[in-house]
Amino acid sequence: MPLSATSGLDRILTLELVRVTERAAVAAARLRGRGDEKAADQAAVDAMRSELNKLPIKGTVVIGEGERDEAPMLYIGEAVGSGDGPQVDIALDPLEGTTICAKNLPNSLAVIAIAETGSLLNAPDVYMEKIAVGPGYPDGVVALDAPAAENIENLARAKGVQPFEITACILDRPRHARLIEEVRSTGAAIRLIGDGDVAGVIHTTDPDETGIDIYMGIGGAPEGVLAAAALRCIGGQMEGRLQLNTDDKVARAAKMGIDDPKKVYRMEEMARGDVLFAATGVTDGNLLSGVKFGRTAVVTHTIVMRSSSRTVREIKAHHQDMEKF
Ligand code: FBP
Repeated sequence: MPLSATSGLDRILTLELVRVTERAAVAAARLRGRGDEKAADQAAVDAMRSELNKLPIKGTVVIGEGERDEAPMLYIGEAVGSGDGPQVDIALDPLEGTTICAKNLPNSLAVIAIAETGSLLNAPDVYMEKIAVGPGYPDGVVALDAPAAENIENLARAKGVQPFEITACILDRPRHARLIEEVRSTGAAIRLIGDGDVAGVIHTTDPDETGIDIYMGIGGAPEGVLAAAALRCIGGQMEGRLQLNTDDKVARAAKMGIDDPKKVYRMEEMARGDVLFAATGVTDGNLLSGVKFGRTAVVTHTIVMRSSSRTVREIKAHHQDMEKF
């Protein structure tokens, strides 16, 4: 049964989800700038799990902290929620951008997506090659299989600007040296980011605010599925291809039902059906402010959205019962 058909439960869940990412973000933010990635991540995981278990759902984590043996909590396959309510699949990253948080740099987030069972790509924790643009462009304006320069030129034409007026967001990694060179050969600018490509993809949906038109390059596959869920709600286009370059990775993917290791997944194949998505800023970023610890309240900034209505809400919450946080 679609989530939207469960007596409007998806509408209620949308707002409940905000509590889940808010709690995780506040827990991580308390450890912001302390140089301890693990502690911040653990705090976010604990907080998200405890809040998630209050939700009226029979949830299964399909994108989580890792595969069962290596992640003590919120591992792939873990059952979450109160056990009453619809069966749903959950993709989550309690702290996306652990290093960013540890260094107190921009754009770390607490993130979650919920969809009907079987609707989210069950991807192993490997890399994924990604390309994404925001809404308002003709279908297929960019494609993973097209050369990078061609993608920039097509996007510029569709936007009605010159390539030098386009900015691509790319993770600053040696593996992207050729991609960076090719993009720059068109005259386009690049925003190199240290980490955090869920934010990188979401930023393409509002180029006037973020200055980013396109996301390109290789990042985590779990982050790819989360970003696809977000774009399904806001609008935009995205493709992803898992980087299954060893027999072990091919075998792990096969166990999750992936039999074509080279398949290009469209956004709608990574996140199908009704999808709910929420992200709360941990550190300040281009779209979301980070958690503020004031004298009388803890302030959080969250974006929450639903694919069935395409509603995108921003919620700034003042939590005055500071003891609870
Ligand atoms: P973590 O939150 O797990 O640290 O991930 C941060 C991140 O930058 C993701 O946004 C990105 O998809 C991935 O790491 C890239 O992986 P790598 O750092 O190995 O290049």
